[in-house]
Amino acid sequence: MSAASTPPASEEAEAPSPARPRTDRYDASSITVLSGLEAVRQNPGMYIGSTDLAGLHHLVYELVDNAIDESQAGYCRRITVTLLADGSCAVEDDGRGIPVDMHPLEGRPACEVVLTKLHAGGKFRRQSYQYTAGLHGVGLSCLNALSEWLVLEVWRDGFHYRQPYAAGRAVGELAKIGPSGRRGTRISFRPDPRIFGAELSFSAPTLVSRLRELSFLNPGLHIRLLDQGSGEEREFQYDSGIAGFLRHLNQDAKVLHPQPLALRLAQPGVDIEVVMQWTAGYGENILSYVNSINTVHGGTHLSGLKNALTRTVNRYASELGILKAENGERISTFDILEGLTAVLSVRMETPSFEGQTKTRVTNPELKTMVDEGVSGALLAALRADSRLAAQVVARALDASRARLAARRASERIRIQSVDTRVSKEVYQRQFGIRSQNWHQSAVWIANQALLAEHVRQLPSGHYPRMLDVCCGSGVVGASFKGRVGTMFGLDLTPEMIALARARLDCLTQGTVYQLPFRDNTFDLVVNREVLHLLPNPERPVAEIFRVLKPGGRFIVGQILPFGPEDAAWMYRVFKKKQPLIFNMFQEDDFRELLLGAGLVDLTMSEYRLWESIDVWIDTHETTNLHRHEIRELFYQAPQEVREVHPFEILPTGEIRDLWRWCVFSARKP
Ligand SMILES: Nc1ncnc2c1ncn2[C@@H]1O[C@H](COP(=O)(O)OP(=O)(O)O)[C@@H](O)[C@H]1O
Ligand SMILES: [Mg+2]
Repeated sequence: MSAASTPPASEEAEAPSPARPRTDRYDASSITVLSGLEAVRQNPGMYIGSTDLAGLHHLVYELVDNAIDESQAGYCRRITVTLLADGSCAVEDDGRGIPVDMHPLEGRPACEVVLTKLHAGGKFRRQSYQYTAGLHGVGLSCLNALSEWLVLEVWRDGFHYRQPYAAGRAVGELAKIGPSGRRGTRISFRPDPRIFGAELSFSAPTLVSRLRELSFLNPGLHIRLLDQGSGEEREFQYDSGIAGFLRHLNQDAKVLHPQPLALRLAQPGVDIEVVMQWTAGYGENILSYVNSINTVHGGTHLSGLKNALTRTVNRYASELGILKAENGERISTFDILEGLTAVLSVRMETPSFEGQTKTRVTNPELKTMVDEGVSGALLAALRADSRLAAQVVARALDASRARLAARRASERIRIQSVDTRVSKEVYQRQFGIRSQNWHQSAVWIANQALLAEHVRQLPSGHYPRMLDVCCGSGVVGASFKGRVGTMFGLDLTPEMIALARARLDCLTQGTVYQLPFRDNTFDLVVNREVLHLLPNPERPVAEIFRVLKPGGRFIVGQILPFGPEDAAWMYRVFKKKQPLIFNMFQEDDFRELLLGAGLVDLTMSEYRLWESIDVWIDTHETTNLHRHEIRELFYQAPQEVREVHPFEILPTGEIRDLWRWCVFSARKP
């Protein structure tokens, strides 16, 4: 054996392990080619975004989008979505029906081709359709690949056809069932539990919001949702278009101008429509669509709109002399969007999207088109209606000056929302869902040092009965173990009560607005991060006061902003994460709330905790759009906020935020 063919033993021993060959062959046999649908099953996320709840619902949207395309082409007037008791779903329309004749090249019926071959469809050439949501020709084949079973039915040319599939393959021929005068397509399918897990199931409320928005975006179209599980049936049909959609979005909001701003720009191949209305709220709610696809991550059309708004409102305000542009006074995009509700709908022949889930539109020309179109139309609209113009400009100026004034004069504003309709059911639904991933949804929830901070606020003494009110999973109450006698817990949702059973002694379901306990029952009441979610927080605090024994203590933790200039910004971040938030307390507000109920000897200690925003917003309650917008709020945080509120954006894009936890302790005299 020659030295050249065998490396010396010592050298081999020193070779770093990653460079060592793992297998002896790397040649053509190492290259695997996945056939189309196998690739989809191996990598579903690439096609439907994810295999969680969002991905599961995306399957339905692919079908609904196809029916919407039929309707945009002028052939479909009714769509029915049915959720069946066995976990399957059926989507039916009265469009032209997927073609069933033999495909000239594939030698199979066209419908079988679109269901089994990626990149097969009728929307690549704009003959059969003009404006479409579909364009890649992969929706049906992916859905089929990810379904345990699927049944296609087509009514066309006087006949009813049917063909069964399993895991993406036809398991029978396309059969002519019999004559029929109907027209349309029905696809029934059951998502494959091997892909999505056995626990996930379709949620009617999730579908409702998408179907409702689709019916607003497609006036006249009739959409029905039947949920066989609950027996519930919903119908949507609106003729009012996106103007009606805006009214719906703002139905509970205090609007600043009764007449929304509505602009429409039609150009060959592109049709842009936008409606806008400012409210007294602090949140912003801008929904954007391209060919009825909800572009939850925005894109060029949305950037164009934001540019247009900022430029035009600044221009108009300085024309009127309201804005001292020469002193560098300028309204920022951040301020203009405060309180804005808007719907932007674009129809175009050649949209391009990022990925198959189409969450972001990327056509560069769209940005200029929307920016220039909206700027022109908006300026004309403002000039034509001076009252409206004054309101719009004043709203934006207020927002920007309030931040600056707040900073200079420490002026206090209690930030409180007025625009959410909240019922016990809404709370129950939201917190019920949250409980599924409760402890993973934020660092703070089970953070030991923070819990210890609560316990540190308890003076030594005898506390036979403690109540953890709105106890959630019961971690706060449980941290007092050993210091108190019986640990009671109260929560609104059965899900949370079930979680808290492992930690607390006595659980009751009920509301903090009307505590199911006698006066003077408890020696200690504890609570954390709940009062900001409640309208009229004075009432629950009064209830807590009532059930405390004289001399008893209330210990409560709350995240507070770093100052008045931070409060409005934090409110917007929190509101997008958690639509139920009602108050962004500032420190003095919170003290007043406790003292106002009659509590005395108030003390407070602060604890700072880094929170990963990406984890915190990755919960069911936060929509994709809002996750994206929360990140934007961090990227574009105003200077006054950055000066007081530490946060960091890591090179990986991860956002970490420093939270100011304040733990208050007070006594009932
Ligand atoms: N409900 C329907 N009615 C009529 N034709 C349909 C329907 N659904 C799908 N098709 C046809 O099947 C093709 C493939 O659909 P799909 O896989 O979703 O891709 P895409 O919508 O991107 O073209 C469509 O282009 C269309 O020609
Ligand atoms: Mg499609």
